[in-house]
Amino acid sequence: MSEMNIAIDGESLITPASIASKVFSSPDPIRDGELDAGRTELALHLRVAEQQFQQGAPVGQIMVRLFTAMNAVRNRYSPKVWEQLIPVAQNHAVARLCHEDPFTRWSFEKPRGYSGDAGLLDFIYGHASTQRYLDAASPLGKEIHSFVSQAPACVAVRERRDILAQMVDDVASSRGGEAEILTIASGHLREGAMSDALKNKTIKRWVALDQDPLSVGAVASEFVGTAVEAVNGSVGTILKRAQTFGTYDFVYAAGLYDYLADEVAIKLTQRCLQMLKPNGTFLFANFADEIPDDGYMETFMNWALLLRSEEDMWRIMRAASEGLDVECTIRFGQNKNIVYGIIRKLS
Ligand SMILES: C[S@@+](CC[C@H](N)C(=O)[O-])C[C@H]1O[C@@H](n2cnc3c(N)ncnc32)[C@H](O)[C@@H]1O
Repeated sequence: MSEMNIAIDGESLITPASIASKVFSSPDPIRDGELDAGRTELALHLRVAEQQFQQGAPVGQIMVRLFTAMNAVRNRYSPKVWEQLIPVAQNHAVARLCHEDPFTRWSFEKPRGYSGDAGLLDFIYGHASTQRYLDAASPLGKEIHSFVSQAPACVAVRERRDILAQMVDDVASSRGGEAEILTIASGHLREGAMSDALKNKTIKRWVALDQDPLSVGAVASEFVGTAVEAVNGSVGTILKRAQTFGTYDFVYAAGLYDYLADEVAIKLTQRCLQMLKPNGTFLFANFADEIPDDGYMETFMNWALLLRSEEDMWRIMRAASEGLDVECTIRFGQNKNIVYGIIRKLS
């Protein structure tokens, strides 16, 4: 299977290699001297960071400079050059220091074999399950973690969880106890613990689907006795047999479209719209294309994502909803690191 097919089939595990062909694709050839210039600039930034660490400079100060530098280098050079710079950063001594933060290391090592697993997200949520890793971290690792976990992308992910819980509650209150909800790529469904409607038993059915059996098992045991049904399945499952999944008042996917090429994103959106009841809502979230954390994430965390602009989101929504009676809107989270595409079925 080609790298491109892996990236778009919606079923295979997501690894940096599998989405590299999309994330770092560019029609522009590498210009003469561009790669050397990039290598030199990156080496300088990494050397400065290394020296600062050695001299015991305040960690927050080092990290601000490092995040800014990695973002600047990423943006200054073509994606193809940047792709070649990533291993340079990953093999540098600074990477080993950054990996003293258990969150950065987890992302880099990918203990579940793919990027962005629910265990990783739990570091962002500050979930109790991550505490033992933080307790075992070195003092430097703890300080780096304090910085990284407050970076804009992490702030936006925590807000995303809160927005989703609020939307679930709004849908539940508008459906008088009959609300049916489908979460695609649910991970550990951390928004579930924040939903008043789930607590108050005013949701009829909340299907949480994920391709990772470990996460499905965690959801099944955490939400036993509630309206939540944990289901093991992939995007591919939905694409192949959406008709067997039933219909819903609210279908959403967060932390998934960032890994799906447009072709699959459009197909999945079409299927999700088919699963909506009249007046039902579909939402998909995506990291925005100008997040300042991208350089750090793609190097030290080895966590490449398909970042999308507002126009990219519109393109998916327009293509997926062609000929349907729907209302499409876009909204951003507060720090604009995450963009939300929302489609409401009108009839
Ligand atoms: C970044 S996490 C997001 C989890 C959760 N939605 C959240 O916001 O915390 C991505 C999740 O997508 C799941 N996933 C990745 N590819 C998938 C696929 N093709 N089908 C279903 N789930 C998938 C992973 O197992 C993981 O739990």
